[in-house]
Amino acid sequence: MDGVDVRPCSAADMERLRVAWPTRDDVHRFHVGRTADGSTTYLVAWDGDEPLGVGVLNWTGPVGARARAAHPDVVELNHLQVRAGSRGRGVGSALIGAAEQAVRDRGLDRLAVGIADDNPDAERLYRRLGYAATGVWDVTEYAWTDDRGVRREERERHQLLVKRLHLFVVSVTLRNTAGDLLLVRKRGTDRFMLPGGKVEPGETHVAAAVREVAEEVGLDLSPGSVGLLGRWSAGAANEPGMVITSDVFTAPLPGEPAASAEIEELRWLPIDPSIDHAADPSLSPMLTEHVIAVLLAGQGGGRQPHHPGANPA
Ligand SMILES: CC(C)(COP(=O)(O)OP(=O)(O)OC[C@H]1O[C@@H](n2cnc3c(N)ncnc32)[C@H](O)[C@@H]1OP(=O)(O)O)[C@@H](O)C(=O)NCCC(=O)NCCS
Repeated sequence: MDGVDVRPCSAADMERLRVAWPTRDDVHRFHVGRTADGSTTYLVAWDGDEPLGVGVLNWTGPVGARARAAHPDVVELNHLQVRAGSRGRGVGSALIGAAEQAVRDRGLDRLAVGIADDNPDAERLYRRLGYAATGVWDVTEYAWTDDRGVRREERERHQLLVKRLHLFVVSVTLRNTAGDLLLVRKRGTDRFMLPGGKVEPGETHVAAAVREVAEEVGLDLSPGSVGLLGRWSAGAANEPGMVITSDVFTAPLPGEPAASAEIEELRWLPIDPSIDHAADPSLSPMLTEHVIAVLLAGQGGGRQPHHPGANPA
């Protein structure tokens, strides 16, 4: 939703919040009080002076005992609530996005939510935003006061969903005789990116780059020919809310690439200043925000030594 500002609740915000969004149990004061020791952050979504929604970030891990035992390292977002008249307009998504950014800002990489088994609408939202089921369930019992002042006891069964927010990968720029850049599109995805992938335990970054190129496009790079072009971060091409940091290597093209089973399509991208690559929605943000500009500027060696006649069929 345009214009929504999500920020941690300050003392001044709390007074405004309590007036504009009164609650029987003074829950805003309760949640702000809990932030004093740094274990939680109370996020509030504002449209100007009007509070639209809230959520609590639990920095110390999941509240549920089973979830905490199984996933002690995640940050958990609880008590997510958008005011009844403001739902379905993107406020919840904005709160979740701000929570994800706050987690990334602390150098942490996983955010979790507990979703009750009787809340399929909220579950649909979380799934769409990339939260995955863990199969870990907890039961919570709590009391609250409804709008008519009636005290109610609830027993809620909820599953932990977790989303990874940051991923480190390696990738490689390979260029043909014309200087065009080799891109791959993975099966079942829409965007083109550099060949590459995750580093396996115990592997060097160069070894991972050599392995990924062999697996994806069938080319054998000599590790000594692989040099670092740079390290950048950008939004993931195919997963909403995920940020990728990549060591981007460069290497001479050693032969003719061939798409493996994991790769649906290869493409040679001309690196030409007259082309508006940023306007091409089929390219990954890593390419349009970083790699292409660096190649255009001629950094990292510009055109690379090549294998004569190397072009995909
Ligand atoms: C769940 C909730 C936080 C989502 O906030 P929101 O601002 O409505 O969400 P967005 O506008 O960003 O996204 C809309 C999506 O939210 C989900 N949603 C859940 N409850 C909804 C509601 N009452 N109205 C509209 N969307 C709702 C739907 O998946 C919807 O997607 P759809 O368009 O595919 O139907 C909000 O609806 C709410 O406060 N619900 C009551 C409290 C609650 O269930 N909290 C979650 C605890 S885990």
